[in-house]
Amino acid sequence: MLTDLTPQPADKILALMQMFREDTRDEKIDLGVGVYKNAKGVTPVMRAVKAAEQRLVEEQMTKAYTSLAGDPAFSAAMRGLILGDADDASRIAAIATPGGTGAIRQGLELMRYADENATIWVSTPTWPNHPSIIKYLGVPTKPYRYFDNATRGVDFGGIMADLKAVKRGDLVLLHGCCHNPTGANLTPEQWGQVADLLSETGAVPFIDIAYQGFGDGLQEDAFGPRLLMQRMPEMILAASCSKNFGVYRERTGLLMAVAPNEKAKAEAQATLNFLNRQNYSFPPDHGARVVQMILDDPTLRADWETELEDVRTGMLALREQLAAELRQRTNSDQFDFIAKHRGMFSRLGISEEKVIQLREEHGIYMIGDSRMNIAGLNAETVPKLAEAIVAVGVD
Ligand code: LMR
Repeated sequence: MLTDLTPQPADKILALMQMFREDTRDEKIDLGVGVYKNAKGVTPVMRAVKAAEQRLVEEQMTKAYTSLAGDPAFSAAMRGLILGDADDASRIAAIATPGGTGAIRQGLELMRYADENATIWVSTPTWPNHPSIIKYLGVPTKPYRYFDNATRGVDFGGIMADLKAVKRGDLVLLHGCCHNPTGANLTPEQWGQVADLLSETGAVPFIDIAYQGFGDGLQEDAFGPRLLMQRMPEMILAASCSKNFGVYRERTGLLMAVAPNEKAKAEAQATLNFLNRQNYSFPPDHGARVVQMILDDPTLRADWETELEDVRTGMLALREQLAAELRQRTNSDQFDFIAKHRGMFSRLGISEEKVIQLREEHGIYMIGDSRMNIAGLNAETVPKLAEAIVAVGVD
């Protein structure tokens, strides 16, 4: 059996992580995997996470199973964080999942279970693991245009033209904020137009929100999910706590299924519990409990929000600095889009050959589609990156 296995294509992001580790150059710069790093290149445990973990060690008296859906207090706290005033417990079924990827996987499983012919529409480009999981599960899929390489902004005309062909019951995968890999995002007005289009076509939004708080702020970044919650009868929402709580390895995520009424919600909840049972029984609890403790404790929450805001503004400052360095070196505003993008990533829009050149000649690692992780930079490495970009030249 095992000798008959065929090798799977390597995940581009994880393969790049490995290449970076193996590079012995001191000056190398990692702009690959989406992990936040501070100016010292460290991914810190956030203060509130440390404090909550310490409290948990003291107070936790059992590690017996929770429920198949995970701790309901975690779901409630996350619903509040993401949906704010738009939260409506009577319509939302939810399960804790192993990270945001687990939530995406379970959302796709739910979709397939409900209607195996429904198509999921996916932005071009998107996080590479989206199409990979979709293909693995055999879920029908279609692409929609998203990014305009000429402006390095959203191709809104393309989005709207392509999504007109969406059928009733199809799903449309949308990044809740901080689009991965481009960094180009919908404006509130554009979210409104997408909501109109989805309402007209009868399609169901499938939101992936993994970077709330990394873009324009915790509330601002949730604009799209909140609007769609109010406007749409049904919605799937996959959330990750990996980045905004920095609990990457704890695998902490939540899947929500928004139903039109309480009866449909109860059925969705039973199905989600069943899907958790089939895939891994009980979801991991440690990260979820820590997140819930932080969100429900005013002191811990205030400290977490302060630290998250520092992370966000730090990344914005690096964006501004890089755009300014490039403006000065090229005597043009062609890179100003870097300061306008939001979240961890920006797609530079250069060819794969130039990405390879940056890696081989300058020790700068970014994903092959020229996605760079802004948090991999610091004030000293920004000028080096700008110099290298100018040296390899722009298409
Ligand atoms: C990324 O896009 O780099 C992150 O979401 C990490 C991952 O698992 O790919």
